[in-house]
Amino acid sequence: MNVVAIDGPGGAGKSTVARRLAARAGLAHLDTGAMYRALTWAVLDAGIDPADAEAITTLSREARLELADGAREVTIDGRDVTVAIRGPEVSAAVSAVSAHPGVREEMVRRQRQWVADRGGAVVEGRDIGSVVFPGARLKVYLTASEEERIRRRRGEADLARRDRLDSTRAASPLTVADGSVVIDTTDLGVEEIVDRLMSAL
Ligand code: DC
Repeated sequence: MNVVAIDGPGGAGKSTVARRLAARAGLAHLDTGAMYRALTWAVLDAGIDPADAEAITTLSREARLELADGAREVTIDGRDVTVAIRGPEVSAAVSAVSAHPGVREEMVRRQRQWVADRGGAVVEGRDIGSVVFPGARLKVYLTASEEERIRRRRGEADLARRDRLDSTRAASPLTVADGSVVIDTTDLGVEEIVDRLMSAL
């Protein structure tokens, strides 16, 4: 399938690069972090403990989750959460929610279906090249200095903590997938990065 996998920690530039690359390559764009964020929003809204694997796995299977155009519009069970999923409450709980194996299994199933329905996509996340689409046409790992990543996320207080949790969890941790093109985006412009990826396609 025509998939470009883009992984990396928060603030590495994944969304900006994925959006631009998708537009230039004529592909759809899926922001899988927005899926985990929307589920986390629903968990908090329902008053479920982020550590409750069973309740959250059930919720992940039952929720109606819709994403348009990257994460330009995100709804869960008909509620528009596009803005709310970027708030500090969701950011603080999303690593715990997304660490549950049952949740990951369900999200991966949905991600593969979403991409299959569109015949391919630029897909960004943490485990896209390693787990979701190990056979992707192109695998990219974006990174940047911690200082720059925190600056891009407007000082998100626990970005480093979130990265640590995402990289050390047992189920499909953030990792550089075999065969990835690794790019440090600290001092690069978006077009420069996208030019490099377009020529690698
Ligand atoms: O990309 P983001 O910062 O919006 O992602 C939010 C969280 O979702 C991230 O801290 C971990 C989780 N996530 C994941 O576990 N697997 C993915 N493929 C994408 C995101």
